[in-house]
Amino acid sequence: MPILVVNVDHVATLRQQRLGIEPDPVTAAHMAELAGARGIIVHLREDRRHIQDRDVSLLRQTLKTRLHLEMAATEEMQGIALAEKPHMVCLVPEKREELTTEGGLVVAGRVDFLQAYVKPFHEIGIASSLFIEADPDQIRAAARVGVTHVELHTGHFADAPDAAERKRQRDAIVAGIGLARTLGLKVNLGHGLNYDNIFDFEAVPGICEFSIGHSIVSRAVLTGFGPAVRDMVDIINRFPG
Ligand code: PXP
Repeated sequence: MPILVVNVDHVATLRQQRLGIEPDPVTAAHMAELAGARGIIVHLREDRRHIQDRDVSLLRQTLKTRLHLEMAATEEMQGIALAEKPHMVCLVPEKREELTTEGGLVVAGRVDFLQAYVKPFHEIGIASSLFIEADPDQIRAAARVGVTHVELHTGHFADAPDAAERKRQRDAIVAGIGLARTLGLKVNLGHGLNYDNIFDFEAVPGICEFSIGHSIVSRAVLTGFGPAVRDMVDIINRFPG
């Protein structure tokens, strides 16, 4: 059965609006765990616009489930991840001017670099994931890198302007899940998933994790963090897997 991994970046976004101490993404992460989340994911960006180094350290020390660290494939981030030892690193492309992660990582053509980049993580038992488009070339390249997981980008599906495009994007993701599994990769999905569109993946086998942030934090503002996470856990727990 797939599990829910909650992204708490946008709790930190609100905190950083005032550069203060509240709301604390570490507290939100603990509430998410209590409400049934099976892991927490944070994106430590180069510009530190939301999650701070202190958040990563505290989460690693205090979470009872798993910590996944989303990051750009830079030397600085590699050093931080090797020191903090999250359970998984997820490599994403990062642009300073973007509002959120826009596209998937380009893996084809960078296989040697990425292989060398993830090697030290594997040596100390940290799993690795690449956030990629559901594109067969990128999936095959990810398999050549030797990562344990891929996270297929669901943002284009979520943002589809009409039903036909949404179906086209969903079909590409479902085909991508099948190809990735054939190549021995575990598959996560993330970006733009919410309490409505997640049902499009209800009957799709082979999904390990849903990585969801914005829709949960948005609901939490109105209902509280625990209920918002529990609502999503209840949906995912009804998926056949
Ligand atoms: N996966 C990746 C790689 C992301 O960059 C993000 C956004 O930080 C998410 C999942 C979560 O997306 P959302 O906040 O839209 O649920």
